[in-house]
Amino acid sequence: MSDKSVSYWSDTRQGLRAVELRAAGFEPSEAVNTNAVVTIANAYTNAHRCNNRVRRIADLLVDAVASKGGQGLLVGAPAVSDALTQGTVNAGYSLASRDLMADCMETGHYAHHGNGMIVVSGCDKTGAAALMPLARTNAFGLVVYPGTSSPGRVDFEPWASKGNNLTIMDYMEGSAAREAGRISDDELTSLQRCVMPGSGTCGAMFTANTMSTIAEAIGMMLPRGASHPADYDAGSDIHDDVKNQALASVEALYRLMEMGIRPRDIMVREAFENAVTTAYAMGGSTNLYLHVLAIAREADVPFTIEDMQRIGERVPLIANLQPHGAYAMVSLHQVGGVPVVMKALLEAGLLYGDVMTVTGKTLAENLAEVPLPENLPEQDVVFPVARPLAAPGNHISVLSGSLAPESCLLKLSGKTLEDGEFRGKAKVFDSEQAAMAAIREGGVIAGDVIVVRHVGPVGAPGMPEMVHLTIQLQGRGLGKDVALITDGRFSGVSHGILVGHICPEGAKGGPIGAVRDGDTIVINPKTRRLDLDITPDELAARMAQLGTPVLSDVAKGSVLGKYRRLVSSAHYGCVL
Ligand code: FES
Repeated sequence: MSDKSVSYWSDTRQGLRAVELRAAGFEPSEAVNTNAVVTIANAYTNAHRCNNRVRRIADLLVDAVASKGGQGLLVGAPAVSDALTQGTVNAGYSLASRDLMADCMETGHYAHHGNGMIVVSGCDKTGAAALMPLARTNAFGLVVYPGTSSPGRVDFEPWASKGNNLTIMDYMEGSAAREAGRISDDELTSLQRCVMPGSGTCGAMFTANTMSTIAEAIGMMLPRGASHPADYDAGSDIHDDVKNQALASVEALYRLMEMGIRPRDIMVREAFENAVTTAYAMGGSTNLYLHVLAIAREADVPFTIEDMQRIGERVPLIANLQPHGAYAMVSLHQVGGVPVVMKALLEAGLLYGDVMTVTGKTLAENLAEVPLPENLPEQDVVFPVARPLAAPGNHISVLSGSLAPESCLLKLSGKTLEDGEFRGKAKVFDSEQAAMAAIREGGVIAGDVIVVRHVGPVGAPGMPEMVHLTIQLQGRGLGKDVALITDGRFSGVSHGILVGHICPEGAKGGPIGAVRDGDTIVINPKTRRLDLDITPDELAARMAQLGTPVLSDVAKGSVLGKYRRLVSSAHYGCVL
């Protein structure tokens, strides 16, 4: 890939550049002597707690780059928080923003003639997008994570026994429990006040922390950078660990430039395998499938959904983090962070140790002094590989079958199905809102399989997350008795018996469009199949009767209109 930045200061338009620089508040003689133009690509907004600390970090980075003799230039991008969009008509903007963000960062980097790039972003899609412009431009660079939210506590059950580990998931489930009359108004208010004392991403192994884990495990973030708390509380400055990471990241960038190590030297195939292995060991979100495939495409590394299944199925679950476990992400940070998990995996022969990282050292060198979980002071946040929370093959599985001829994802998060499979009666909905109304009215009972279709990348468009449905099921005590299948997605907060990413999606003529109320649906993790229990002839007859799916009304020139025209299926990572 060509370096589009090299000719900026050597061409004949220095006079014009001086005018531009002076007008923008830079001293031209200093700018012309800068040793590097560093794109500080940041998804800042004051609209939500996921990314509201990003500007403070970006400013810190600009100063740190200046102290090294460089020029840090801010490049912004839209930061969509799933917390603000999930369950609303604007939910499609979440996934669409991933690629939009990467495009903004690429554009700003080249337009400002950057040499290096540091990306600062939290939340789900912004975190996913962080690696995309680095892989795409191959500019020297790395990722800084703004941090996750600190957990909270309350003094009533069932939450009191969780101790200081409550997260946004607990509030959401509490809210559904209140609706179902299982807790009081006062208890819900208490949860609301306590679960999230400050800024930061959703505080456990949900999608944002899954993606920060991917960034660290793939080698593009400094060690222990994926798990720090964003701040001390909403009124405090950013956490000291974030400050230290930011300053160390500037040092690392200059070292990478000196050593000539670029993102594609780091994000090689083995590094992708390491990232998937680590995310599986920690119980990462199903969204990692979409995002890892998209990042691999940017890095020009051949990587498929079946590769991810093959890698993931060998990995035991060893991190005791929500949503499958007990602890918040900050608890992992306190015992040493992602390096402790990776040390355990490396010792078990599950990681490649000789891959390069942004420290300028290999992964094995980075982990040399990191203790194994069994050698830490007594703790139960990270388990030894030999004594895992769940054996391999019990987290996310890629299934296929008559309902998903291409693929779909089953998320069990370490649980096993009682009869080895789930067999239930279909209740079919053409929107998340219709499914929600049915659950609230008591129209969904144990033994049902909720089918939500036409909410895929093209159908919705933007493949929204069905998290509020899964929260309702959990809050009503139906999480173990009702399955949910969809061509949409799930949030990392979601847990239960969940099948998402069904491909082809309904809007593309997938057989999910042929399901009828009362049909029997069979989910079998062992055979890795999702089937509609009707004869092939019956299915073929129903498919022949399917008309052209009616798509939601979206303006052609809008972001979602363009997204609908360009997006690939979830099987390929929803890349554009
Ligand atoms: Fe932003 Fe969860 S909504 S990290």
